Formats: sequence, structure tokens, C-alpha cells
Amino acid sequence: MRTEQPKVIHLKDYQAPEYLIDETHLTFELYEDRTLVHAQLVMRRNPERPAGKLPPLELHGQQLELLSIALNDRELGAGDYQIGAECLTLQPDSESFVIDSSVVIHPETNTALEGLYKSGGMFCTQCEAEGFRKITYYLDRPDVMSKFTTTVSAEQKAYPVLLSNGNPIASGSEDNGRHWATWEDPFKKPAYLFALVAGDLWCVEDSFTTMSGRNVALRIYVEPENIDKCQHAMDSLKKSMKWDEETYGREYDLDIFMIVAVNDFNMGAMENKGLNIFNSSAVLARAETATDAAHQRVEAIVAHEYFHNWSGNRVTCRDWFQLSLKEGFTVFRDAQFSSDMNSATVKRIEDVAYLRTHQFAEDAGPMAHSVRPESFIEISNFYTLTVYEKGAEVVRMIQTLLGKDDFRKGSDLYFERHDGQAVTVDDFVKAMEDANGADLSQFKRWYSQAGTPRLSVSEHYDAAAQTYRLTFRQSCPPTPGQPTKQPFVIPVELGLLAADGADMPLRLAGEAQAVGTSRVLAVTEAEQSFTFVDVAERPLPSLLRGFSAPVKLEFPYSRDQLMFLMQHDSDGFNRWEAGQQLSVQVLQELIGQHQRGEALAMDERLVEALRSVLQNDALDPAMVAEMLSLPGEAYLTEISEVADVDAIHAAREFARREIGSRLFEPFYQRYMNHREVSRQTPYVASAEHFARRALQNIALAYLMFSERADILSLCLDQFDNADNMTERLSALASLTHSPFEEKRLKALEVFAEHFHDNPLVMDQWFSVQAASPLPGGLERVQTLMQHPAFTLKNPNKVRALIGAFANQNLVNFHRADGAGYRFLADQVITLNAMNPQIASRLLAPLTRWRKYDDARQALMKGELERILASGELSSDVYEVVSKSLA
Ligand code: PHE
Ligand code: ZN
Repeated sequence: MRTEQPKVIHLKDYQAPEYLIDETHLTFELYEDRTLVHAQLVMRRNPERPAGKLPPLELHGQQLELLSIALNDRELGAGDYQIGAECLTLQPDSESFVIDSSVVIHPETNTALEGLYKSGGMFCTQCEAEGFRKITYYLDRPDVMSKFTTTVSAEQKAYPVLLSNGNPIASGSEDNGRHWATWEDPFKKPAYLFALVAGDLWCVEDSFTTMSGRNVALRIYVEPENIDKCQHAMDSLKKSMKWDEETYGREYDLDIFMIVAVNDFNMGAMENKGLNIFNSSAVLARAETATDAAHQRVEAIVAHEYFHNWSGNRVTCRDWFQLSLKEGFTVFRDAQFSSDMNSATVKRIEDVAYLRTHQFAEDAGPMAHSVRPESFIEISNFYTLTVYEKGAEVVRMIQTLLGKDDFRKGSDLYFERHDGQAVTVDDFVKAMEDANGADLSQFKRWYSQAGTPRLSVSEHYDAAAQTYRLTFRQSCPPTPGQPTKQPFVIPVELGLLAADGADMPLRLAGEAQAVGTSRVLAVTEAEQSFTFVDVAERPLPSLLRGFSAPVKLEFPYSRDQLMFLMQHDSDGFNRWEAGQQLSVQVLQELIGQHQRGEALAMDERLVEALRSVLQNDALDPAMVAEMLSLPGEAYLTEISEVADVDAIHAAREFARREIGSRLFEPFYQRYMNHREVSRQTPYVASAEHFARRALQNIALAYLMFSERADILSLCLDQFDNADNMTERLSALASLTHSPFEEKRLKALEVFAEHFHDNPLVMDQWFSVQAASPLPGGLERVQTLMQHPAFTLKNPNKVRALIGAFANQNLVNFHRADGAGYRFLADQVITLNAMNPQIASRLLAPLTRWRKYDDARQALMKGELERILASGELSSDVYEVVSKSLA
């Protein structure tokens, strides 16, 4: 907590550390009312800093109760050091020395879930980014890498399992009912990768033989009641290990790899060396209790954390401004993995829809920052969609520009050159350049300039000369601290479609012959033209295939042209994209009608286009499901100048009803067929099965708009009799958004009765209700906060109920009297004192006030001001609120 103006930290002020820590020896004595931490740090002066007089040593430390501190075995007295709220300072008297400190900490009252804390009955840690300083006095910065040994002691009965990083080297029991274990991690690592776990845990065990023939023990630790929900994560882990060997040549390096599932966790998971700690929602999955989406999320997060062993741990970040070095690259790697394991096109569609809805909004808001931020107050606020998702897009563009093989050469060089080091984004790009003789200097603007570039494209066809010219104009709106931008390097993958829908050969003016039918052009200037020759007929361009760059593309497609692309584009992503653009045009027309008070009337062509998609049995059902999903309200908000919440909701609901009723027959066919197969097939977590259930469930949602009794029966039957959560929850969601009040309430009650002791399923139950657009949403959420399964102390619950309400239930959250805003601000104020990271994340919807009408703007700003004035704010909340009001 702070009252004075907080410190802003700037990338330009980076300095290497004055001292290094070669060895770190930790001892933890865990008790119910306190924990004792003893740290022995073997230190020396950093030879890379200027020689001369020894500078003071400033060790980070927060909320620590110092019992003793010694320098080279000499106990220090009060006059030998100074303690502030954030640091302990002392004066070393030699180049090499040993510090011994003992502190008391209180994991049992740690609600911030950072440092050492208790989740349920177990002790666990979360040290990234700066949590280690809440455990002991240390140089808590990623460029200080050390070899750790850790001894943990605890009461044997309550905490039979004692874990830390690396390999177990010794253990024993004491007479007093306590036992201990010592772990040694042979790899140097920064403190943010430290982990410790103590608890009554069971584990599922397996093994993996690496490409060089080493045997690795794999263990997933969970609370006993969850032991039947680990197999999917274990399968995912083994697939990830194999994939990283095959795709990146990366082999695992310890004898053991452990995952521990905890219920109370601020994020998805954490890549601590050899001991990943996971939010239980990112580990546990089985058919009866987890949806297909949850299964895919588990697979992706297990992979993500495992991949960090190289992209993050073996090669780590020099400082936190470089966060995207590990996160952008690792998200890119996990996305590639997921697309290899499932449907590549569907994965790309999901990622792009997510990026455009949420990251674009962030990039247009008051917290906009570059992929490599220039400054921050609280680093926890920079674990953002920009650093992660846009960062991954930037890495993806490097691969698109270099080609897959050359990209791999670059990544090999990066890992080889920097193994064991803490490096920067520049080092990553340099390895990509050096391995290939490439020049990425202009490209690097993607790391330093915030904001989403616009790319508008115009065409000119010269029938006589048989040439076709595309002119690209790029610009990027101002963002906080960056009024003007330089041109980016924008890789545009494109093709040209002939009247029969086939891709034409692509030959640029000056080229001896055509080079393929889909190719990447690099747009590097503010305005730039490319002329194709031998173009026998006027083509229809398919631009930005696969979403080859994170930009807002503008091209004046007619609706008929979009329908043509939907049918014929050889790029699956762009077929979907054409459908989205068509839907956006139609929905914007409906929004306008609603705003003018006219009766809503929808363009027939969208219905017909969707009909042919729905009736096309050759299409992957997952693609059909994606194409039938209209752009979400949040996306329609993002692309509006001023978002009219009610008009957006009314227009989209109208369109969905219209589509549901016009296409009732084909939806019914599809539903009955797929439901029958589901009934007869045991659950499998594979792409083909995900696809069937996705289409089955979207069909059900459309059918439910009919409000017919026979459809209601089908829905209730699926709800009651499905053998898996995907079907059961979809049926419940359809019911929850339906007017059949009695059935809806009954179903919710039955569900809660059945699953009351499964917190992850109850999260789904909260979310489904929080997201329901039916009137009275706020009151329902307020009532649900009183439910015995709800607690503000558990981040998953906060996200499931309050987060889902504010982010997904736009009509209710933005109700005109501002009660939704007031509610959210109240929760932020409460959480600020309990868990600042969660409080600050929860705030995001209020920061988007510029998108709304004057009345709502005033209400939203009023709540931000109320938060600001509410007392002692954490640096997390202070930074977001103050920047949003600036
Ligand atoms: N480094 C984690 C990941 O992306 C995320 C994380 C950050 C978890 C901070 C906890 C705290 O894999
Ligand atoms: Zn990560």
C-alpha cells in the first residue's frame, strides 16, 4: 500500500547489478502461524560494473520481519544496515562475501497470493515478477541468476509432500512429528523462477524418454479428490515435450518435471524451473466436469509452461521491460503447438478474434503500451494482451518474413548463443538477423511503437495493359506518450481470385515469372504500390491471409464480393474473415436502424451465405461453427467510434433470431445428426469431436430462439442426459438465456446440487448466469455473491462472476443508471486491500470509458475518481486508475 507518489521505472535507466549471487541456500520452516526463512547468499561484485570503491548492497525485501543478518559470519547490529519499506542496505567490505539472514513471514495471512502463501491446506509460492522479495532479502531481479538449494521442513502429517525446484537430494524425519526435504537445482536461475510446495497431495506419475535417451519422471500433484482429473494434462505434457524436440530441437534438462495444481492462483500457471505451479483450472480436465474449451486450454497452458523451460528459463529476461521476449515467443510456440494438435485454421480464427476484440481495445485505451514497454509503475500491470498476444504476433511476423526454415535457424542460434543468460528483445532479433543475414531494424518498431496500425488498400485494374495495382497506406493512431509513429514493416500475405474462384499466378512487375499463387509482400512505406502483370481479368484480392499482421485492414469490399470470398478463397482463415466482414456490415446496418428508431430489417444475403455454409457437408464442422458465430458485442464495441451498447445488443440479438428462424430446418438437421453421434460415442478430447460438439451446440443455441416446446425438450434432454460437460453446459447456457424461467431456474438448481463440491464446475455455473443478458443481471450477480460457493478470496471466483459480468454482459454492466459501474468499483475497492493484482485486472472495463456516450463516460469516470479517492491504493490499482483518468 502506498500514499506518496509511486516511483516510475524506466527502461532507459537500466543498469547491470553491482553484485551477483552465485549460490543461494534457503531453509524454510513452515508453521501454522508463521514461517521462518533462512537465506545464505554467496555473493561477489559484478566484474562488469566499474571497479573502485565498493558500492552499498541494496537487497530487496518487503513485509519481512528480520530476525538476524550476518556478513561473513559476523552478526550485524542495528547500526550496520538500514531497513526501508522496500530495501535493506548494507556496506560490504570485500569483493566476495556471504550474507546470512533469517526472517519471519506470514503465508497464512497472505491474501495477495504473491510470495509464499497458503491455498486451501497447502503452502505454495508465486514469485514472478517481484514476489521473491516477500520471502527473503535478495537481489530480486531477473538478471541476477543463482544456483539454488532449498530445504523445507514441516509437520509430516499435514504436509507429507515437500517440493522445490530441481532434483531431490536428501530428506529425513525429526522426532517431533516434523520432516524435511532438500532440493537442488543445478541450473542458474533468477529468483522469479523459485518455487516451493508443501501439502497433502497425491500425484499421477508417468515418464518421458528424451531424444537423447534420458528418462524423465513426470508428476502431476493435486489434492486427493482431483486425482481422476489429471490424465489430459499428462497427455498434453508428453505431447509438448515431443513437439518441442521435433519442432525446435529443445530437450528437457532435469531428471524430473513436476506440475502442482492449486485452487487460489492469480494467473493461469507459472513456469518455475522443474516445478510448474498451475491454477487448478489449467490442469484438471475430464469429460464429466470440463468443457472442450477447458480441455484445449489445459493442453495449451501445459504446453506454454513447458516451453518456457527453454524460452524463459534457460534463456531468460534481462529486465521486466523484456517480458515479451519470453512471453510473446512462448505464446507463439504454444499457438503453433495447438494448431499442430488440432485444427490449424480454427486455432487461428480463435486467436485472431480474441486479439482483435481485447488486445486492439487495450491498444486503443489509456493503458496502451508497446510490446516492449518504456516505463511502468507496477510490473504486474504489464502481463497484458499486448505483451503476450501482440508479442506472439510480432514473432509470427518474423517467421512470415523469414520463412519457417530460416526462422528455425534463428531460434537455434538464439538458444545456443544465450543459453544461461538474461537477455533482451534486441538479442532475440539479432539472432534472427545473424542466422539469416537479414535486416530487421525497421521491423523492430513493432516492439517500440504502441497502437494498432491501419492499413487501407485501394486497387486499380488496367484491362488493356493487363496490370493490377494495389496501393497500401498505413498509419497508426497516437497512444499515450507517442503522438506520432514511423511506418511499420507489415507482411501482407495475399492472393488474387479469378472469376471462377481460382487463385491466379502472381507475377510482380519486374519479375521474370510468376511466383506462386499466395505470397507475402512487405509493406514498409507509409504509402506503397505493388503492380502485378499478366493479369488477364479483373481479380478479387484476398488480403492479409491468415491475418499475417495485427493491423486493421480496410478494403471497400461489396457484400457480393465478400460472399464470393466466403465460398472460394483458398485461405480458410480468409473465408471466415469474409463472413465476419459481411456480418459486421449487416450488423452495423441494423445498429443504425435501431438508433433511428426504424423497424429492423436484415440483409437476406447474410442468411443465404450462412445457409450454404450450414449445408456444406464438405466443410469441417468446426469451421461451420466458427462461420455461424456472429462477431461478439465486445468486438462490435471495439470497432465503433462511439459504442451504443443497447443498439449493438438489440441488433445482434435480432440477427441471431432471424438466422435461427430462417435456417431452422438445416439447423435442426445438423443438430439431430450430431446429437445422435454424440449420444453413441464416448467422449474423446480430439479435434474431430470438438468440432462435432461445437456445431451441435451452436445449432442448439440458434434453435432455442424459436422458443418452441419441442426444442426446449431437446435442450432439456441434452442437459439431463449428456455424458460430458460441453453438452451439458451449452444446454444450460441456452436455457439461461431463454425466457423459460421455470425450467431455467430448475436446471440451474439441479446443476448446483450435483456439482456443489467441484469449485471449477461452480465457476462455470457462476459465469453462465453472470453473462446472461436478461434484465436484472446486476441484481442476479449481487445475489450470487452471497452464494456459499462464492468468495472474493479466490481469483477464479472473482473472474467467473464479477469478471464475466463486466466483460461479457455488456447490456447489464453498462446499464444507463451507472449501477453496474458502481458495483464494479465497489469490488475493486474491496479487492485492492486483499489482492491488488486481481483488483487491478478487474478494473479494465472502466478504463474503456472513452468508447461510450457522454452520460456513461461521466459515470465511469466518476467511479474511477471514487476509487482514486478511496484511501490507500496499491501501486497496481493506482497506476491503472491514474493513467485512465489522465
Ligand atoms: N509467467 C506466467 C506465464 O505466462 C504467467 C504469470 C505471471 C504467472 C505472473 C504468475 C505471475 O506462463
Ligand atoms: Zn508465459
